[in-house]
Amino acid sequence: MKRRKFLTIAGSAGVIIAAGGVGFVATRSPTGALEPWKNAGSLYSDPMRRALSYAILAPNPHNRQPWVVDLKSDVEAVLSCDLGRLLPATDPFNRQIVIGLGCFLELFAMAAADHGYRADIRSFPDGGSDGELDQRPIARLALEKQEGLRGDPLFAHTLDRHTNRNSYDTDRAIGDDLLGRLRGAAADNVRVGTANDGAQLSDLRTLTRDAMWAEVRTTEAYQESIELMRIGRAEIEANPDGIALGGAFLEMLKLAGILSRESLADPTSRSYQIGLDMIEDGAMTSMGFVWINTLGNDRKAQIEAGRAYMRVALQATADGLAMQPMSQALQEYAAMAPYYETIHDRLTSQPGERVQMLARLGYAEETGPAPRWPLETRVRKS
Ligand SMILES: Cc1cc2nc3c(=O)[nH]c(=O)nc-3n(C[C@H](O)[C@H](O)[C@H](O)COP(=O)(O)O)c2cc1C
Repeated sequence: MKRRKFLTIAGSAGVIIAAGGVGFVATRSPTGALEPWKNAGSLYSDPMRRALSYAILAPNPHNRQPWVVDLKSDVEAVLSCDLGRLLPATDPFNRQIVIGLGCFLELFAMAAADHGYRADIRSFPDGGSDGELDQRPIARLALEKQEGLRGDPLFAHTLDRHTNRNSYDTDRAIGDDLLGRLRGAAADNVRVGTANDGAQLSDLRTLTRDAMWAEVRTTEAYQESIELMRIGRAEIEANPDGIALGGAFLEMLKLAGILSRESLADPTSRSYQIGLDMIEDGAMTSMGFVWINTLGNDRKAQIEAGRAYMRVALQATADGLAMQPMSQALQEYAAMAPYYETIHDRLTSQPGERVQMLARLGYAEETGPAPRWPLETRVRKS
């Protein structure tokens, strides 16, 4: 639907022929911004940077890539958060940022094991505040060579895992066996729940749609996303993070003046309306949901939720399932309060339990990788 609708407006603007053609498509791919996906595991011979070159491919909110690593040696490092890469409007307590760093740590450990190293990860070694993140380290990392260490089979799917925001196929149900494997993929310090039919599926579709619509209507929250949009190849290459609106098609709309940060923010524009329709399409074609809960919500619990999400996402990839987090209802700003309450009512079973991640599932057309900053821009030698 997304493509069809955009085609309608692009067609009426008469820009398809002007901007179309295979050559255009081939030259609009942000090749530099995708290099980290090609280089993972191959640029560095030392075990620390080799493992980190995979860790930077972890999912993370709004693709902010908030990781900064101080290299102490070939086997020791300290992970910190770049406090300039937070999401104050939609993630006021930096909970989601920490979950993304948890994803990073899980991928780091898997990549190290794949290379024969056991990763010792000590999260928040100097403690952490529940309010806002500060300069204290997120984790101390140490690698130790271990003979006979068996890698994790999930790691093989790292380069194929991508957040998939396409429409999902409503003719293809998700088998209970697959949901069972997703629930089994995470460590047992979190609770993973799933749904694939009945009232629960339809409730979650509606709830995630309504929460996302509410976010778009909350100026400060929506504006935070708009400012992180990279529209077209030049913007993506210059800042390979945030929300990449790339590809020949969207670039064409940008050139035609149809797609811009201003039009996306303007509730009377067609881009804005199409955005709302795309949200509905995504949510309502969900064929299943998976959620990750922790008991309590301290920093370590958030790290564990991220580690679990990483594993669940790789298991989904292994099983050919598309997946997209739908985080709005879990967020802690005022406009989300009613959705937050409903989701916790429905998906938790004891006081103090917190839903940390909620993602839609289904079968869909494949989607490509999201940009990444190269590893060398995220490490410091001390
Ligand atoms: C804590 C967290 C929350 C996220 N929330 C959303 C979300 O609400 N909607 C969405 O489309 N993607 C969400 N994502 C996915 C990120 O946008 C995605 O990981 C990032 O853009 C990088 O893309 P990739 O996963 O394809 O590598 C979330 C990821 C994390 C770790």
